[in-house]
Amino acid sequence: MDDTFPLEESSLSRRQLLNFLTGATVAVTIGSALYPVNQFFVPPKEDIGVEGGIIATDILGNPIPASQILTEPPGTRALVAGLAGEPTYLVVKDDQTLDPIGLVDNCTHLGCTFPWNPVDQQFQCPCHGSLYAPDGMVIRGPAPLPLKIVHVTVMDNGSILISPWTEADPRTGKEPWWV
Ligand code: FES
Repeated sequence: MDDTFPLEESSLSRRQLLNFLTGATVAVTIGSALYPVNQFFVPPKEDIGVEGGIIATDILGNPIPASQILTEPPGTRALVAGLAGEPTYLVVKDDQTLDPIGLVDNCTHLGCTFPWNPVDQQFQCPCHGSLYAPDGMVIRGPAPLPLKIVHVTVMDNGSILISPWTEADPRTGKEPWWV
């Protein structure tokens, strides 16, 4: 596959996006320009009907098994296609399991996608400079709201179920802004 991508500037970000496009999942990049790519995301093919949940896939709709992500080291942010095709970060925890909370990769300012910066331990939006903590809370605007979160569940067959978060946001104790 051609390793150039016209919307990317750094090789690490290019690799991240290409890994995602091809079903690999490592998302370890250091600040670069990522433009909104939602329009490239295909609609999800499979809705398994569990409270609106959907199986995590790559951009082509191929399911990404948990085992694939869990070969990566703790702290990895893995990008998958989630609800309605939203790019969604899944987090590998220290105990080598998936965090039950996923973070949607859409900046709450104007919707840009953004990379994870493992050095600064932040999500850093290249469009207007918003910074988010590892849990998706805003560190610096102009982003007005924390990142949308979703439930992440590893199914018995090893697939990853992503389902809507409709209850109180555990970060704020308040009703989610996206519901
Ligand atoms: S879209 Fe992210 S800071 Fe503006």
